[in-house]
Amino acid sequence: MLEITDLQVRYGAIAAIRGITLCVESGKIVTLLGANGAGKSTTLKTISGLLKSTGGSIRFNGDNITNFPPHKIVAMGISHAPEGRMIFSNLTVKENLEMGAYLRDDRHQLSRELEYVFTLFPRLKERIKQAGGTLSGGEQQMLTIGRALMARPKMLLLDEPSLGIGPILVKAIFDKIVEINHELKMTILLVEQNAHFALKVADFGYVMETGQITMQGTAVELSKNEQVRKAYLGEG
Ligand SMILES: Nc1ncnc2c1ncn2[C@@H]1O[C@H](COP(=O)(O)OP(=O)(O)O)[C@@H](O)[C@H]1O
Ligand SMILES: [Mg+2]
Repeated sequence: MLEITDLQVRYGAIAAIRGITLCVESGKIVTLLGANGAGKSTTLKTISGLLKSTGGSIRFNGDNITNFPPHKIVAMGISHAPEGRMIFSNLTVKENLEMGAYLRDDRHQLSRELEYVFTLFPRLKERIKQAGGTLSGGEQQMLTIGRALMARPKMLLLDEPSLGIGPILVKAIFDKIVEINHELKMTILLVEQNAHFALKVADFGYVMETGQITMQGTAVELSKNEQVRKAYLGEG
């Protein structure tokens, strides 16, 4: 579904992405692992059109979408739940969710998606009129994922959904990621520093270091890999 070939991205003189190649198959959860500063968020921002690449290509369902503007990428079916959540603090939960659908031409018919998001995250329904900024970190993460779903995407980009959230909530959010994948047959590219959780839910994974892919394999293979265990699972 998503095919990235030799992608390069720079911030001025800094080469943040140095020729990465990766694939995400339809219906799968693929994780992109790596330490802070590896280039994971830059990769997602480039897929969603927020940053321009300086080389390589991005194809989605066979179409070359390299350097398309963000609104076109959303319209084609890629929805991005960004790192740090970026919700609108002064808007209510419902208004935040509606913002996720602003590009849909059938946005007067959002009841089905709202219903789904509220079934997935009942806490959001309980807080429907509450300002986004008053939610806990975990609830804001639910809202971020819910908002991304409101665009009715074909593919979800999730940037560190575990960041700044306690382990019990992280487990709950990862369970929901699996549920979204199963129930909606949603294809997911999951960026994480938390390899422990990511490799539990993913089918396939890539490890990124300083702008390059250094390892790849099925989640099972990566979980057993000595280097991954040492560097990303805190073992040995
Ligand atoms: N806006 C920016 N301007 C300049 N350099 C940046 C900017 N954003 C990120 N970088 C640099 O690009 C590299 C990759 O960053 P990022 O993609 O955020 O990594 P990750 O998400 O894996 O932590 C880092 O070296 C970071 O310092
Ligand atoms: Mg990041």
